[in-house]
Amino acid sequence: MTLHKLTFMGNPVLREVAALIEHPQDAVLLQLVADMHETMLAEEGVGLAAPQVGISQRLFVFRVPEERTSDDKDDAPWQHQTLINPEITPLSDEMEMGWEGCLSIPGLRGVVPRYKRIGYRGIDEKGKMVEREAAGFHARVVQHELDHLDGVLYLDRMKDMRHLTFESEMHHFMKQEEM
Ligand code: NI
Repeated sequence: MTLHKLTFMGNPVLREVAALIEHPQDAVLLQLVADMHETMLAEEGVGLAAPQVGISQRLFVFRVPEERTSDDKDDAPWQHQTLINPEITPLSDEMEMGWEGCLSIPGLRGVVPRYKRIGYRGIDEKGKMVEREAAGFHARVVQHELDHLDGVLYLDRMKDMRHLTFESEMHHFMKQEEM
């Protein structure tokens, strides 16, 4: 296992449209997937996209921790998820505001609008097609990570920069976490 170094905002790789992966079962790629899971956990993240370790390819890993889930059946906890060449379809126009952070933008949190309900599909590390519906935090993580593959950061999606804060000041907002 190799822990990868993260790239941070300002690194051009985070602004590129990442390339489709032609061989999802390639041994080098599968090692990268395993290393990305290790790196995500070591950094205490809930998601990590390949450009965040300097690799401009369409791949991300994520998890949905139990404490972030809701009663919605499509917002259940997940561990160790991998999506290669992922695609998203919004299932309604309904948007939801919620707090996000990003390992490539350390120390900050912001309120970002995301689709409340999405369908997504992609290939996992076993070469199997994953097709699922997601809501709430699960949907939010997948949208955030897919944005990384298109060179988009959550700051680009924010509607009101007054809802950008350092983590150390976040308690000032906690009365209304979902805005
Ligand atoms: Ni991120």
